[in-house]
Amino acid sequence: MNSRSLSFRLVTWYAGLLTVVFVLLGALTFYFLRHYLEANLLDIQARRARQIAYTLLAGIPGSSEAVVAKQVEVLYSPEVNDRFIRITRADGEVVYGSGFPRDNSFDPTRVPLPPLARNGEFYRKESLSRGELLLAAVTYGGAGSPRYVVEVGVSNLRTEGTLRQMLIMMAIGLPIAVCFAVTGGFVLVRRALKPVEQIAHKAEDITQHNLSQRLPVVQTGDELERLSISLNHMISRLEDSIQSSKQFVADASHELRTPLTVLRGELEGLAQDQQLRPPTRETLGSMLEEVDRLAEIVEGLLALSRLDAGEANSEWVPFDLAELAASTADQMSLLAEDKNITVICETSPGVNVEGDRARMKQVVVNLLDNAIKYTPSGGRVCLKISRDDGEAILEIADDGIGIPHEALPHVFKRFYRVDGSRSREQGGAGLGLSIVKSICAAHGAQVEVASIPGKGSRFRIRQSLVNKASVHALS
Ligand SMILES: Nc1ncnc2c1ncn2[C@@H]1O[C@H](COP(=O)(O)OP(=O)(O)OP(=O)(O)O)[C@@H](O)[C@H]1O
Ligand SMILES: [Mg+2]
Repeated sequence: MNSRSLSFRLVTWYAGLLTVVFVLLGALTFYFLRHYLEANLLDIQARRARQIAYTLLAGIPGSSEAVVAKQVEVLYSPEVNDRFIRITRADGEVVYGSGFPRDNSFDPTRVPLPPLARNGEFYRKESLSRGELLLAAVTYGGAGSPRYVVEVGVSNLRTEGTLRQMLIMMAIGLPIAVCFAVTGGFVLVRRALKPVEQIAHKAEDITQHNLSQRLPVVQTGDELERLSISLNHMISRLEDSIQSSKQFVADASHELRTPLTVLRGELEGLAQDQQLRPPTRETLGSMLEEVDRLAEIVEGLLALSRLDAGEANSEWVPFDLAELAASTADQMSLLAEDKNITVICETSPGVNVEGDRARMKQVVVNLLDNAIKYTPSGGRVCLKISRDDGEAILEIADDGIGIPHEALPHVFKRFYRVDGSRSREQGGAGLGLSIVKSICAAHGAQVEVASIPGKGSRFRIRQSLVNKASVHALS
């Protein structure tokens, strides 16, 4: 589990707090229960001491101390009840002292005498070898008659045993309760955060090409519902602004086409004038080149904006990629011959794919154009079409100047050229590969590049094959 995830952090905090609360509650319960039990025991002993003082000792001097001692023995049977009872005269003489209790919880002979000068009722605890003796004392008599201290006590061994059992139960029960609570908390947190995962998943899938999609809105009425609604509004606004900027590029390139064609025609007309001086003719020539470059850029932009608008899907047919690539290479052979470059074509027939044939031809043209453009005279360009594991592979390799490693991730970006000045000399606008990428994306094909500077480059396109039957059905 990811220790930085929200669910992990929430559950860890929850478990920590729960443990602290449980331990505090347990400690408080233990403390107050012990206090309550001891107070209760002492209260019972005090009541007995009062009974002995106010019923039995009140009989003196009518009855003797020995008779009172006998009565205590008979009425209270302290040994049988595991009690401690002692009557001490103010002069320190013990009138009655109970014997050893049956449970041997204390030794009555080792219980120190009470503070005889003290008056009223008082409590004390005596630590003995096993546990403590809780003692309640009541004084009786005085003012002309003899004064006595009556003590009644009981060992706290039994209450301590009960408390110890409670402690053991808490020590076992607390971790189990925490485990249950944490498991339940984890399940609840996961369930509560599930919509967040769904939103994040969907958000990752949304790119500028599918901005019409929306995030799932969780109908919970809580912050998550508000968040998903706000994000969807944001996507709508993004879609509108991207749409309008695409529309602007499409309109601008479309509108530029006609004046450029007119300009080209007029410049060509001017260039045909035989009276022109050589410098003017030269200037006209370079103006024509620039107009051509401009027209190429405009065509490239128009192609890209049409691809963005999804127009590649308009003529979706199955066709033989090998045949298309071979014929395109054939048409471009003149360009290669001009530069003294050998184009080798390796195709196996029947590599059938589905898509917009004209667009796929443009892919081959752009890649071959680059291979020829960026390969010095005398070089070799190899075009290979093959099949591999249900996919058609189109490979265009050259032994040209290659692409530097750091430029490889950028070559498919619009207007990107590895070396601006170099490419400009060769007339590139930096749109060819971005058109290739957009067409491939529209066809569900992957394009990849590998290159070694000074040794050459290889562009590879993988596209799903279609079965032969559908090609025959349509052709
Ligand atoms: N086969 C290749 N060998 C070496 N460099 C290449 C190759 N193909 C592309 N590049 C580099 O990648 C850059 C981008 O290529 P891209 O085709 O997009 O633009 P371009 O060829 O410069 O212009 P355009 O294709 O618009 O006329 C090129 O400028 C070039 O530097
Ligand atoms: Mg190019």
